[in-house]
Amino acid sequence: MVFAIRPYCPADLPALHRICLLTGDAGADATPLYRDPELLSHYYAAPYAALEPGLCSVLTADDQPCGYILGTADTAAFNARAEREWFPALRTRLPRPADGDTSPEAALLRLIHTGYSIHPDLVAYPAHLHIDLLPLAQGHGLGRRLMKRFLAALRAARVPAVHLGVGERNTGAIAFYERLGFHLVGAYPGWRAYGMKLEKS
Ligand SMILES: CC(C)(COP(=O)(O)OP(=O)(O)OC[C@H]1O[C@@H](n2cnc3c(N)ncnc32)[C@H](O)[C@@H]1OP(=O)(O)O)[C@@H](O)C(=O)NCCC(=O)NCCS
Repeated sequence: MVFAIRPYCPADLPALHRICLLTGDAGADATPLYRDPELLSHYYAAPYAALEPGLCSVLTADDQPCGYILGTADTAAFNARAEREWFPALRTRLPRPADGDTSPEAALLRLIHTGYSIHPDLVAYPAHLHIDLLPLAQGHGLGRRLMKRFLAALRAARVPAVHLGVGERNTGAIAFYERLGFHLVGAYPGWRAYGMKLEKS
């Protein structure tokens, strides 16, 4: 199998949706959790590809997308832009769930209707990212390569620091981020934030 990393192109969007879903339950397949297979991506992947395509890289295996890294250099500006350009159409199409609905799908719909926000602990880490590889691509050093490329782009843009969020059940990803030099910024109910200062790396 030949792996390669290349810039995102719009034809990759269905693959982004699929990879996001297949890795969306603490790193495992989230397909059983969501009736709409694109819902997770509408919040965690697709808006980055649409609004920050230059920071989105795709990993391919024999020319087929099997992973990605994406994010933004400026979370505050990205969140504001998503509020103007991404969420309105989604909110029109996807209704708010009923108050008593405790399903993962309802929780995600509430996030879409609430929009993005920055945790106060993360204000000093203006960039953030998401990285997901299908199982066939995991464990070959490719996540490290994708991260190196993403961090190099941030450094070139003189971004001082980057953060990410990870579910507390996702022990594999937590080990990965710690191995790559991210430090724990905060632990919150259900998730942790990790960060990296870029000037000193
Ligand atoms: C987490 C993920 C991005 C890591 O990418 P990867 O290509 O599998 O990791 P790499 O092979 O590049 O590993 C880089 C280093 O991290 C370590 N590492 C990676 N996964 C690990 C794991 N599950 N447990 C322990 N260490 C791990 C490796 O040992 C390696 O260390 P080394 O280079 O010193 O030998 C990838 O496994 C993935 O996409 N998982 C599913 C989706 C997911 O959980 N995404 C994160 C959501 S927050």
